[in-house]
Amino acid sequence: MSTTSRCRVCDGLVTEFFDFGRQPLSDAFIPPTADPAEEFFFRLAVGVCRECTMVQLMEEVPRERMFHADYPYHSSGSLVMRAHFEATAERLLATELTGPDPFIVEIGCNDGVMLRTVARAGVRHLGVEPSSGVANVAAAHGVRVQHSFFEAETARAIAEREGPADVIYAANTLCHIPYLGSVLAGVTALLAPDGVFVFEDPYFGDIIAQTSFDQIYDEHFFYFTVRSVRAMAARHGLELVDVQRLPVHGGEIRYTLARAGTRAPTPAVAALLAEEDAARLVAPDTLAGFAARVRGVRDELTALLRELRARGERVVGYGATAKSATVLNYCGIGPELIPFICDSTPAKQGRLTPGSHIPVREPAAFADPYPDVAVLFAWNHAEEIMAKEAAFRASGGRWVRYVPRVWIG
Ligand code: SAM
Ligand code: TMP
Ligand code: ZN
Repeated sequence: MSTTSRCRVCDGLVTEFFDFGRQPLSDAFIPPTADPAEEFFFRLAVGVCRECTMVQLMEEVPRERMFHADYPYHSSGSLVMRAHFEATAERLLATELTGPDPFIVEIGCNDGVMLRTVARAGVRHLGVEPSSGVANVAAAHGVRVQHSFFEAETARAIAEREGPADVIYAANTLCHIPYLGSVLAGVTALLAPDGVFVFEDPYFGDIIAQTSFDQIYDEHFFYFTVRSVRAMAARHGLELVDVQRLPVHGGEIRYTLARAGTRAPTPAVAALLAEEDAARLVAPDTLAGFAARVRGVRDELTALLRELRARGERVVGYGATAKSATVLNYCGIGPELIPFICDSTPAKQGRLTPGSHIPVREPAAFADPYPDVAVLFAWNHAEEIMAKEAAFRASGGRWVRYVPRVWIG
């Protein structure tokens, strides 16, 4: 086992700062009849590049194991995210897609949650999505979609066939792609001279501030900061011209890149860079502090769940998120502590959570009857879920949260 690796952006030395040990694929929900010996595991560990400051996984999972016809995550499962992406599309339509016959390409369009609005507006678009199950849902909603991984070759072919893109957009996808060099080469081949590449992903600053260690799992290969994104952009003749913090998914940043020299950076870029420097985001003592807090959350959460069991309280989980794989497997939580997790995603229901083998059931099971305590694994959708399940608390039920600290109430 090596505690160093090579940076996937600049080839610098990456030094490890946390090891979660053997972990399964976060979205590989297995049928109850599956042979557990067939389950795929890898070492989930995270490090920082001492050259370009990019935070990244130490080991990479082959992409076909994660993104395939049965990829279970459907972006439209959350009302809040649907509204977020509708607003995003409306904003792009009003600001960047105003010329004659504008063209937008989305990397990782999933079920078309964003492009549906673009399609309805009659604007030329293309979603590039390797997971054919979700891609077919996008197509059924009138979205033009190509089943492939976006990389340099794909992008060049699109440029040749359909001309330059005014906007290239990606949400919760760029951080999933270890071969970023190829993606950025593709972006520069496809982007119109005055076009923008806009992407939004979980912010490492929020992960540190909230100890949201469950953002770290197989699919999230990179953990971006303003500084590391700016350095990555510069390597490809691109410039970071705007950053916007977003409240979704536990704290994200929307980055806007343009060809170097074509747009003046907004003051937000320098302001966030200064904030990151003041916070010493990737300094060794900051990362060591994060590591200590992660261990603390693990110890407190497992102690709380054992105590609840000892008292005979009925505990269930809510939201079989990809993030929950890290929590459950790192903390050693299985069906003896949490007998089932409710989730609204049909593709997850009737299956077992990866590695921890907790049954996933439909949301109706939650109220049948209400448990004493529910662990909110989908904490990033807290407002939406707690509003929907208000009757649970009204009936005396309590929620357990573990971000930013273990809390019951
Ligand atoms: N954009 C949606 C959202 O924000 O909800 C989907 C995010 S989902 C977590 C990541 C998506 O990226 C998956 O649908 C996956 O199939 C897709 N993906 C992974 N690698 C990709 C690549 N190289 N090119 C395009 N899409 C990719
Ligand atoms: P995410 O954190 O990756 O978006 O995953 C959220 C998971 O939580 C997903 O499996 C769907 C589930 N979920 C519910 O079960 N009920 C809900 O109301 C919401 C918003 C999500
Ligand atoms: Zn680097």
